Amino acid sequence: MKKIFLTGITGLVGSAFVVALLRERQDCEFVCLARKSPVKSAKQRTEEIIRDECKFDGCPELADQILSKVQVIEGDVVTINPAELAKNPLLKGVDVIFHCAADVNLGQDPTGKTYRINYEGTKNMVELAKLLKVKEFHYVGTAYIAGKLAGVALEDKPVDNGFNNPYEESKFKAEMLVRESGIPFTIYRPAIITGRRSDGRIRKPLAFYRILEFLGKLKSHRCTKLGIPHVLPVDLGINFATIPSEHVYFVPIDYVQEAITALFQQPVTNTAYHVTGDSPLTTRQIQDAVCGVLRLEGVSIDPNENLPNRDNKLMSRFLGDLFPYFSSDIVFDQSNVRKALGDKILDWEYGTKGLEILIRSYYKDYFPKVEWLQKLANTPMGVPVEE
Ligand SMILES: NC(=O)c1ccc[n+]([C@@H]2O[C@H](COP(=O)([O-])OP(=O)(O)OC[C@H]3O[C@@H](n4cnc5c(N)ncnc54)[C@H](OP(=O)(O)O)[C@@H]3O)[C@@H](O)[C@H]2O)c1
Repeated sequence: MKKIFLTGITGLVGSAFVVALLRERQDCEFVCLARKSPVKSAKQRTEEIIRDECKFDGCPELADQILSKVQVIEGDVVTINPAELAKNPLLKGVDVIFHCAADVNLGQDPTGKTYRINYEGTKNMVELAKLLKVKEFHYVGTAYIAGKLAGVALEDKPVDNGFNNPYEESKFKAEMLVRESGIPFTIYRPAIITGRRSDGRIRKPLAFYRILEFLGKLKSHRCTKLGIPHVLPVDLGINFATIPSEHVYFVPIDYVQEAITALFQQPVTNTAYHVTGDSPLTTRQIQDAVCGVLRLEGVSIDPNENLPNRDNKLMSRFLGDLFPYFSSDIVFDQSNVRKALGDKILDWEYGTKGLEILIRSYYKDYFPKVEWLQKLANTPMGVPVEE
């Protein structure tokens, strides 16, 4: 039996990985470090999330079986004492660590929380790995440790190109801790995780989805103010103050799940993998799809903004941390992924159609009671919507 100590099981990636691996492998089991909430224990939270993930993955009947292979220790990667944790009887026989927990806040980090979770948390997990003498350390990083690079980012030998935010810097430094630990490692670096390829759905919408939420609310507000039915086109007159990019790496959650699960089962050879896919979108494609689904006009992308209006200022405040990802000029090399898994796994792309589907799925799933959004979400782009 392979015993894996895992952090981040309650998150988007951790839950998807655990369910996928346990569906494939009878010889694996997990001991997970998870946090409690004010009203639920870590174990209760983990159980609920794994049931939810199984439902999402189309296998609700497997939840009990999967949960029978998952044990939970309550704790926080920052405050836990690795020496104490190493003595926990549940950790006896652990030969692999899979560290996936992180703070994915892309904004400023005035209290140092992001740094503590991502850097100090990883430091603690590396220390635990040494104490347990594990044979493998698996770490989920981010493709965006490439930061401000313009050009090709290689999977091996990452370099400091300057960073867009404390998150990228903390993840870069954390990855360095793993690389320099002396423990054999595999590093998985996803890009911007979005809905799955089949129907665009996602169990936990992060990052990009904040733009969809914001624009939906802005349209609602504008239509109410102008007395226009919400389903009709409206001119928002707003500008995203950023340089449009040809390389926006949206990566479907089911690809992240499939690739990480497959790579995890490869020999551990101190290798990093860009879990980004090889078919980035353009900022314009995203703009067209969002505006097409929401029926928005007057949305521009222009870095040279003279006098930002009130809505632009609001948008920069709420979404400004995401702008670098829509002007990024990084191309993520796929050599290691191709070598390990072959070309076929990379044979997918969202394209405009896939984008439209994921945007509509988000509004369908997360605003079920907002009638006008439901109408738009259920009507393909370009087809007139009845008031
Ligand atoms: N989502 C993306 O688009 C994306 C892109 C690139 C890379 N990644 C990387 O993927 C990994 C997983 O992120 P995700 O997308 O799954 O994000 P997520 O859904 O926010 O999950 C983060 C996980 O980390 C846990 N965590 C956070 N702080 C913790 C702490 N102090 N102690 C213990 N656990 C803690 C969370 O637990 P709680 O439930 O208790 O908060 C949760 O399980 C991260 O390493 C992230 O950097 C994500």
